[in-house]
Amino acid sequence: MFNPFVALPLLVCTYEILTMLLPLRISLTAKIFASLILLSGLAKIFLLHRTPSGFDMYELPYYLTLTFTAIFNFIIVAVFLLLIKDCIQVFCRLILRKPFPNYYAALFVFSIALCATLYGTYEALKQPQIKTHEVVINNLGREFDNFRIAMLVDIHADTLTNREFVQELVTRTNALNPDLILMPGDFVDGQVATRRADLEPLKDLRAKFGVYGTTGNHEYYFDFEGWQKEFKRLNITMLNNEHFIITSGDSQLIVAGVPDQTGDEHNTSLAVKDIPENAPVILMDHRPSEARENSQYNIALQLSGHTHGGQMPIIYSLVKKFNRGFVRGWYEVNNMKLFVSPGTSQWNGFACRIFDPSEISLLVLKAKP
Ligand SMILES: [Fe+2]
Repeated sequence: MFNPFVALPLLVCTYEILTMLLPLRISLTAKIFASLILLSGLAKIFLLHRTPSGFDMYELPYYLTLTFTAIFNFIIVAVFLLLIKDCIQVFCRLILRKPFPNYYAALFVFSIALCATLYGTYEALKQPQIKTHEVVINNLGREFDNFRIAMLVDIHADTLTNREFVQELVTRTNALNPDLILMPGDFVDGQVATRRADLEPLKDLRAKFGVYGTTGNHEYYFDFEGWQKEFKRLNITMLNNEHFIITSGDSQLIVAGVPDQTGDEHNTSLAVKDIPENAPVILMDHRPSEARENSQYNIALQLSGHTHGGQMPIIYSLVKKFNRGFVRGWYEVNNMKLFVSPGTSQWNGFACRIFDPSEISLLVLKAKP
């Protein structure tokens, strides 16, 4: 039976063997060996298997998973470069009617793809940078000037983002001395039984006003109810169309959260129902795509993730198209500010970041001067 998840990558690999490996001036044995390595990257696809609600990944040792991941990344990076090379080749031969240096072009693509893959895989797997963002909030009371929010999103805990990684993430976040920690979704990829230990360090997160989260789309792919119980056990309060109020002196700050659209319960109107007038609202919504609709509810700042910052040039444009123009960083949407985090870790679907570092975002709120 035709399976596009297998057929398409197989087609891509065949294309890469024919247009990148065959023109290289290496022995036939080396070409066969290189082709087999390339094809082994497809093991990544077979590691993903369908569960009743989505895709899970078979558990393999860390370095074996890393090897398949890196080769798979190379397949993805190389195909875009090869398409550009072959467009230039067609232009040279058919339009300019000039010879094309096929060997040098193939060698160039192979070398660039290899370097980009090594860099992109390293960038995806290393600890995120800490990035401070100062943001002026309308109607923010003086008591909340310099209020510090640490934002962690798209952790996607799995074999590569394991317990050691999450433990270090927690230590570095706590060192920022945040007043509040917000986590708008995509905590984990996997079942509770296999992934519980990887998220366990999150229970050590510390902030003066607590740790709050919302669901991302990936929370719905694996044992939704089981993970909700886990978040409770880890002292992460999930906001499902709810808000809470932080009061300091005469001022108030409201933090609201909506669940991801996958669950069909996303309701911003309900999340901000009966909020006090003139108090600024910070909304967690995993995806940035509803920002224009959310801006109708007098929200000062929306915090989102989901896009992983676009991951690499070319794919960035696709991510932008599918997320209504919002990919990474700051946007003004009507009178609302929108911050889209590039994510705090990697995602096993494509664990590669080229010119797209992950980050722990430290948002420092500023009252209007
Ligand atoms: Fe997501």
